[in-house]
Amino acid sequence: MLPFVSLVSSVQLTPDIVDDILTAAEAMHSVVLAKRRTALLADTVVALIFLEPSSRTMLSFQAAAQRLNAGTLLVHGKESTSLAKGESIQDTMKLVSGYADLIVARLPETGAAVPAAAACSVPFINAGDGANEHPTQSLIDLYTIRRDLGTLEGLHVACGFDPLHSRTIHSLVSVLSQYKGTRFTFVSPLGLRAPESLKHMLDARGVVYVETDDLAALAQADVLYLNRLQEERFADTKTFDTNRHRYRLVSDMVSARNRLILDPLPRVDEIAEDVDRLPQAAYFRQAHNGVPVRMALLSLLLRKGA
Ligand code: NCD
Repeated sequence: MLPFVSLVSSVQLTPDIVDDILTAAEAMHSVVLAKRRTALLADTVVALIFLEPSSRTMLSFQAAAQRLNAGTLLVHGKESTSLAKGESIQDTMKLVSGYADLIVARLPETGAAVPAAAACSVPFINAGDGANEHPTQSLIDLYTIRRDLGTLEGLHVACGFDPLHSRTIHSLVSVLSQYKGTRFTFVSPLGLRAPESLKHMLDARGVVYVETDDLAALAQADVLYLNRLQEERFADTKTFDTNRHRYRLVSDMVSARNRLILDPLPRVDEIAEDVDRLPQAAYFRQAHNGVPVRMALLSLLLRKGA
C-alpha cells in the first residue's frame, strides 16, 4: 500500500516507497514476459488524458491497464474534447472522476498537475506537466538502473543536455539525490543549466554536483542520462539551432566507466544511432520497462496489491 492517493511529484517518492513500487514491478514483469494478462483490475476503469504529444507514456500506460484487465478511456489532444470549447482542466478532472476509477494526465502547463489532482475525486497520476515533472518516468529510470546495475547507491550520474527544461531530469534528480553517495554532473549549454530550485534542493541535501558545457565530462560518469533539447519549450529557436548537433553522444565518446546509457526518449539528435549497438545502451529496454512499472503503480494506487 502506498501512503498517498495520487502521484503528482517525485518529492513523494522516498527510497522505501520506490522500493515497494519497484518490487511490485518485478512481479508484474513476469506477467509481461509471459505475454499474459491478470484480472487484478478487472472491475476498474482507467482514464488516460494526454493533452501533449506522447508515444511511450500513453501507450505503456494503456498496455499496463490492459494487462491488468482494466477498461481504458483515452483522450489524446484537447481538440477532441470540451477543453477546445474553453472548459477548464479542473472541470474536466471533476467530470472524468465520475467516469473512471483513476486518472492519468499529461498536461502542457508547467505545474498544472497540482490543481488538476486537487480537482479529482479519484487517484491521479502526473504523466508530465509542462517543463516541471514526470515522476512515473523516474520510476522507470530507477527500475532500469536497479535491474542493470543492482543498486541505486553510490552512482555518479551525468545528466544532459537540457537540464533547464527536461522534466525527466528534474524528477530523476529529485528522487536519486536521496540515495547515499549519488553525485551529478549536468552537461549542457550555459543557457540550459538546471533550475535554481533543483540546485537548492541538492545543496540542502548536501549532494555534490557540477555544471559544465564540456561533453568530455560524460566519460567520468557511471550512468549517462540523456534527453533531447526540449525544442517546444524554448523561448527562441536560436539556442536550439546552435546546440542541437553540438550536444550529441557518439560511440567514440563512451568510456569504460560508463556502465549504463539511459534516455527517456524520443531520441532526436542527442544520441547517435551507432551508440545503440553498445551493451550499455539501455534506452529501448528502459522504454519497455514502462509497462511493468506502470502496472505496479496502477495496482498499488487502486489498492489492489501487486
Ligand atoms: C519524455 C517527456 O515527455 O518528458 N518522454 C517520455 O515521456 N518518455 C522526454 C521527452 O519528451 O524528451
